[in-house]
Amino acid sequence: MKKIIVLDSGGQYCHLIANRIRRLGYYSEIKDLTTPVSELQEAAGIIISGGPHSVYDKNAPEYNQDIFQLDLPILGLCYGHQLLSQSLGGEVVPGKIKEYGITEMTIKPDPLFNSLEPQQTVWMSHGDTVCTLPPRFKIIGSSDDCQAAAITNGKYYGLQFHPEVTHTKQGMQMLENFLNLCNIKKNWNMDSYLNQELEKIKEQVQNKKVFLLVSGGVDSVVCFALLNKALGKENVLGLHIDHGFMRKNESQQVQETLESLGYDNLIVKNYEREFLNALNNIYDPEEKRKIIGNLFITVKDKALAELNLNPEEWLLGQGTIYPDTIESGGTKNSALIKTHHNRVDIITELIKQGKVIEPLSQLYKDEVRELGKKLGLPSEIISRHPFPGPGLAIRCLCNNEELKNFPELEVQINEEIKPLQAKILPIKSVGVQGDSRTYAHPLVITGEADWKTLEKISTRLTNKYPQINRVIYLISGNIDNLQLNKASITKERLELLRKADHIAMSILELYGLSEKVWQMPTVLIPINEESVVLRPIYSTDVMSASFADLPLNVVREIAREIRSLGISAVFYDITNKPPGTVEWE
Ligand code: XMP
Repeated sequence: MKKIIVLDSGGQYCHLIANRIRRLGYYSEIKDLTTPVSELQEAAGIIISGGPHSVYDKNAPEYNQDIFQLDLPILGLCYGHQLLSQSLGGEVVPGKIKEYGITEMTIKPDPLFNSLEPQQTVWMSHGDTVCTLPPRFKIIGSSDDCQAAAITNGKYYGLQFHPEVTHTKQGMQMLENFLNLCNIKKNWNMDSYLNQELEKIKEQVQNKKVFLLVSGGVDSVVCFALLNKALGKENVLGLHIDHGFMRKNESQQVQETLESLGYDNLIVKNYEREFLNALNNIYDPEEKRKIIGNLFITVKDKALAELNLNPEEWLLGQGTIYPDTIESGGTKNSALIKTHHNRVDIITELIKQGKVIEPLSQLYKDEVRELGKKLGLPSEIISRHPFPGPGLAIRCLCNNEELKNFPELEVQINEEIKPLQAKILPIKSVGVQGDSRTYAHPLVITGEADWKTLEKISTRLTNKYPQINRVIYLISGNIDNLQLNKASITKERLELLRKADHIAMSILELYGLSEKVWQMPTVLIPINEESVVLRPIYSTDVMSASFADLPLNVVREIAREIRSLGISAVFYDITNKPPGTVEWE
């Protein structure tokens, strides 16, 4: 079958490119950057993805120079653009300004930009830039900070920005224009994918059965329905583990909903005590994630034993979707951002032994939802907000460090953002910048400002100061005197967070905003006794996201109710992804 090959340079968005091509109706596959040309015979076009490296890094990924001998259209994105430029005789240098975020760009008429206006909003995430073009190339797009933002020689194209990310407003049109330059007709849709997957599942499972961990979120429920359809109820058993980190009443709702859909092959077990004990005095986010992921497997084995099921007869099913694997550093050149619960070492070992089945592992959430619809699942399940496997545990921040101050940096930032004021919080959260993980401090902004102004400040400051990877806005409370407490995961803290989360989600629902918002984590931070951060985002694929500009009256109502729980301050996360991840840990 003719296809578009995406060569993986390790970027967070590599797989998203393939997803976009499929969304446009063309079959697309990802391959390694070193793939020999003999394996590219069916390619109608090649896209080289972005990646976390500089072309000058000692450990820059190896690549196959011969691809430039192929008589095929090639599109290089970000790192791919730099690689293409350097390989064909251009020059790449470290950029004066590292650009992460939304940028305005001017484009010139070119087939790649068919039907587009001259001014375009694009998403940049890069340090290096192309300073000298390869021979016979011309510039077809520039931004203030990047002259060679789009270049071509008529056959090969290089773009410094990411057309695959939804923040690049006309990115899909650009990709479609590129596909029109390739010799390929539309050849992919969700119906063909479903039929293909049902066959693949039967082939992989053979005469075994599948034991699936069902959290109740969209992914695991769609996976459960898919496995039931492929193998029949008698060959599938779902286990919902209540680890004590679920939302209010969630485990009960999961059971009732699946029962009402006729799935009587689901059991629910409570292992709250085991999980709480395992996290006692654990403070590091990665350690927490690994402990939770491993314990999932331990308690799953315990449940299998209690049910008298022979582990040799059962494969482990997981509703893992693509972003879970990429952020866990799951491809050759990618960096670890955070270990998702279904990618801890024990699971990776089981995967190597062929004991795990993950039918959704190539899909994004929007595709999983579409698949769910095809499987007849109701919209109340399909449109649920994603909820991470480790649940509230990774939204309950822990700390055992002393208070840390940043007096000089704070003076400098305050000078820049007058009349607003800023303070750096002494705790840390996880972020992602230039395809790599960061673990840095949030900056709190106080004062009167609208969301647009706050967004600009947030993007500028996180680009400029490596000490901060997140900016939050004080909605309610007083932070004149900052106090940081020693805190770990306890039943009481989880209960407090569960109540705050329930308030936030109920008010969002009440105002009819749940559908518009992709996800809204509520985070408990051990500052001034206990404080809370609201993290509502807009996204389509969660590889990138913008903070949601919810109406202030709604935000204030949520804050008021949450403070009545005895919470000292309520903040609002005004960081896009990148540079902040959705979850704080
Ligand atoms: P981040 O924080 O990486 O989150 O921007 C991206 C999406 O992934 C969800 N998430 C997880 N989902 N297991 C999951 O099943 C995990 O360990 C996990 N960690 C993050 C997160 O809620 C968001 O939707």
